[in-house]
Amino acid sequence: MAGVNGDRKGKKDDNGLGTAIDFMLSNAKLVLGVGGAAMLGIATLAMKRMYDRAMSAPTSPTKMEKTGKRSWEEPAWMGSSPRVLNHDMKFTVSRSLQSLPTSSHSIEPDGLRRAVGRSAAGRGGSAQSDLLRARMRLSLQERLWDFYRNWVNISAEEQALARKAALDICAELRVFLHAKLPDMPLREMYLSGSLYDDLQVVTADHAQLMVPLVLEKNLWSSIPGEDTIMNVPGFWLVRRENLEYFPRNSSYWDRCMVGGYLSPKSLLEVFDKLVSGSINWPAIGSVLDYIIRPVVPSETLTLEVQYEANRRLYVDFLPLLVMEDGTSLIAKPHRLAAERHENLWRQSFRVGETARLRALDQEDGGCRCTCLKVAKAVCKLDPALNRLNSSQLTNAILLLSQKEGDWTQDALADRFLQLLRALVEHLEAGRLPCALAPKVNLFCELTEQEVDELGYTLYCALSDPEGLLRTAEPHLP
Ligand SMILES: *[C@@H]1O[C@H](CO)[C@@H](O)[C@H](O)[C@H]1NC(C)=O
Ligand SMILES: *[C@@H]1O[C@H](CO)[C@@H](O)[C@H](O)[C@H]1NC(C)=O
Ligand SMILES: *[C@@H]1O[C@H](CO)[C@@H](O)[C@H](O)[C@H]1NC(C)=O
Repeated sequence: MAGVNGDRKGKKDDNGLGTAIDFMLSNAKLVLGVGGAAMLGIATLAMKRMYDRAMSAPTSPTKMEKTGKRSWEEPAWMGSSPRVLNHDMKFTVSRSLQSLPTSSHSIEPDGLRRAVGRSAAGRGGSAQSDLLRARMRLSLQERLWDFYRNWVNISAEEQALARKAALDICAELRVFLHAKLPDMPLREMYLSGSLYDDLQVVTADHAQLMVPLVLEKNLWSSIPGEDTIMNVPGFWLVRRENLEYFPRNSSYWDRCMVGGYLSPKSLLEVFDKLVSGSINWPAIGSVLDYIIRPVVPSETLTLEVQYEANRRLYVDFLPLLVMEDGTSLIAKPHRLAAERHENLWRQSFRVGETARLRALDQEDGGCRCTCLKVAKAVCKLDPALNRLNSSQLTNAILLLSQKEGDWTQDALADRFLQLLRALVEHLEAGRLPCALAPKVNLFCELTEQEVDELGYTLYCALSDPEGLLRTAEPHLP
């Protein structure tokens, strides 16, 4: 390992590789304590990462042997296949995680640790180091609250303007659909999403327009994803029943039937033709004094509404089925292997999980929602964390709430760190159970590479949580 720190010059010209490795090594020391196999594991992971980036040939780890001799020894697995590499990385991270400290107390910036170490060596400085630690935690606590107040929390005025724009759009669509397709069996459309629970962060920029369909009970039934050949809990098929007695066209929605199932894709296409194709948005926009345009391409149906010179709102048009047992299914496609999963409806747990989070906070005056909003903001602003969304973060906090009792405002920094750590552990396991339906894996739509990338970013953040806020701030409006 000494070679890594010793050979600065040789590394200058390889895309900051050396600096990055140095950085990671000092992080590893910091998080894990000096020495030991665990540290080696993390450092190795870091080097693999830096290599992949610097060489831009991630699938060919042997290429680098030609491009330059390194002063440090390449771990034995460097020459193996990418699959095995990945496996090894997981193993090393997992091993390292087991030796992670379990409280935030031992997580300090490098400089401080050194300072503490020096003074502690001189006198019996443990009281002093406790003080330093306390100060350190206080400052993260203060940073988080500052960040929250200044950047994360959205002013009531801004929220009101965005809600008004969403409501105007909703009203226009309602009128249009009633006039143009009076026989389409829909319940009243309504607006939903974080904008309506004060859980939106940074800018008031998105809302969901829920479009509930009326389905005839005797003609349609829902089948949970785990009972299908695709075996994906959290997704459902909606099957057309009794075709022999109620032939095709008995139900209005038969036009969206594909292979005997109600197809969310086909349904979205029907709405897309209407909403993007036949509504005169420029005209409506000029009446409302907005600029409105459909977003293309979009996996769902989305309208962009510019309601002030520099303010935009994205409204997702989201067909919804409410089944007899109350299960909510939305027409939001599965991210991966979309063709195979084309007929799957996504179960939405949003209402239930948000209600539970709020109820817990109300019971103990807790900071769960604040913690969620800070985490959401960081994930929204840091491109490396974009893949984590509100549902995953909410559930990680709900699961943490089952283990951890102290959610007072003073504990925000501790809980935030614990949330980061929990996320790394869930990523490492490749599994984040939904708190309301443990069979559902909220990471099931992440690719292996995304899991690695997220885990790596969060792992680094564990030793420098304020770095997350620093990364986020430059992306702020
Ligand atoms: C966050 O914003 C809401 C209004 O949108 C306001 O009522 C609340 O006091 C703010 N919270 C903090 C801590 O600033
Ligand atoms: C179903 O009804 C539509 C018109 O509502 C018609 O165009 C179509 O041919 C019908 N399909 C069948 C199978 O009857
Ligand atoms: C959250 O993100 C995952 C992974 O990117 C995605 O598969 C999932 O659909 C998202 N969930 C929601 C509710 O948007």
